Amino acid sequence: MKALTWHGKSDIRCESVPDPKIEDTRDVIIKVTSCAICGSDLHIYDGVIPDMHSGDIVGHETMGEVVEVGSGATNLKIGDRVVVPFTISCGECFFCKRGFFSGCERSNPNKARAEKLWGHSPAGLFGYSHLLGGYSGGQAEYLRVPYADVGPIKVPDGLSDEQVLFLSDIFPTGYMAADFCDIKPGDTIAVWGCGPVGQMAIKSAFLLGAERVIAVDTVPERLALAQKSGAITLDFMDEDIYDRIQDLTNGRGVDASIDAVGSEAHGTGSFDSLIDRVKVATFMGTDRPHVLRQAIHCTRNFGTVSIVGVYGGFLDKIPMGSAINRGLTFRMAQTPVQRYLPLLMDRIVKGEIDPSFVITHTGTLEDGPDLYKTFRDKQDSCIKVVLKP
Ligand SMILES: NC(=O)c1ccc[n+]([C@@H]2O[C@H](COP(=O)([O-])OP(=O)(O)OC[C@H]3O[C@@H](n4cnc5c(N)ncnc54)[C@H](O)[C@@H]3O)[C@@H](O)[C@H]2O)c1
Ligand SMILES: [Zn+2]
Ligand SMILES: [Zn+2]
Repeated sequence: MKALTWHGKSDIRCESVPDPKIEDTRDVIIKVTSCAICGSDLHIYDGVIPDMHSGDIVGHETMGEVVEVGSGATNLKIGDRVVVPFTISCGECFFCKRGFFSGCERSNPNKARAEKLWGHSPAGLFGYSHLLGGYSGGQAEYLRVPYADVGPIKVPDGLSDEQVLFLSDIFPTGYMAADFCDIKPGDTIAVWGCGPVGQMAIKSAFLLGAERVIAVDTVPERLALAQKSGAITLDFMDEDIYDRIQDLTNGRGVDASIDAVGSEAHGTGSFDSLIDRVKVATFMGTDRPHVLRQAIHCTRNFGTVSIVGVYGGFLDKIPMGSAINRGLTFRMAQTPVQRYLPLLMDRIVKGEIDPSFVITHTGTLEDGPDLYKTFRDKQDSCIKVVLKP
């Protein structure tokens, strides 16, 4: 089959690789009908995710048709159309039973490596390094889905791939980000990053009752899309974000902040972001947490900082003094996707949201390598790429 494979920084190729096979009774194989490129894939593309091996198949936002079923995946049959969560979860362990599917303690066969870095291992993920299980990803013609009796959700008739594909990741992620904010009537929520995840967070914050959403980015078409969803938009290259948020909240700060940017934040030439750049470039630091610092400063006393942008390692100069003295709550996670799926499928079926509004580019797997670059460099007004194998 054809698949997108990683070969080093900025080097994704469309290659022929062996077809996946059933390896466990609970596996199914799906024929991929649509898959997408995520902002998290860009961390792989940029070479900042450790433990990737040359030839690894990437991709974790995938849906398709079931073509082979293991004897233990009793809920699915050949021909079912399913969306596959990016988190691989057994459904039976301590964490899965409590709904913390992205904390599954059984699905990462390489958990010892993750424990060395993080103390404990999270769940295995599709196409996201050997540190997180070494599973082949779904930017491919076929995908092996482990624990298929737990993960995939069946698609009701009448919905297009585009309407449901993002249930695999960015819609639950944006929704969780807003959910973490515990939104009350009258609340103002600030969202850093108007990429696909930020866009989903903005829509979700309104769905959950926010009165105002302030969206921060610098890419004009992304700010325009945020504005279309009803957000007040701020350009971090043109405006002082802290001052503007102070003005908009009568000096109190926002009720909650969402960091939908993560470790590769762009700076504004500010001192902290210059130091981040030098440290990461010289291997003295792992992340560039400029947005997280700013989000902390802009959140009101006893407010919440909700983090869904991904960080990898040890963050520098986080203003914990501001957080502890002012009673901030931090919430963050790789999304336990399965937990949100029935609820969010229902919202799509009812027409409360159509997540396809972020799609700007569609191509084949062969177009994949070019579209990775287009998405990373935000060329051609690219916001979200869908590939049709
Ligand atoms: N927690 C999870 O489970 C989960 C799931 C999916 C994605 N993610 C993470 O969410 C983040 C966003 O993903 P995406 O697909 O939207 O990616 P993206 O790269 O398309 O979007 C990031 C956006 O942040 C903007 N940005 C950069 N610096 C900024 C700054 N200083 N202030 C404000 N905005 C800034 C960029 O211009 C860009 O539009 C990534 O870190 C990704 O890894 C997390
Ligand atoms: Zn993702
Ligand atoms: Zn589990």
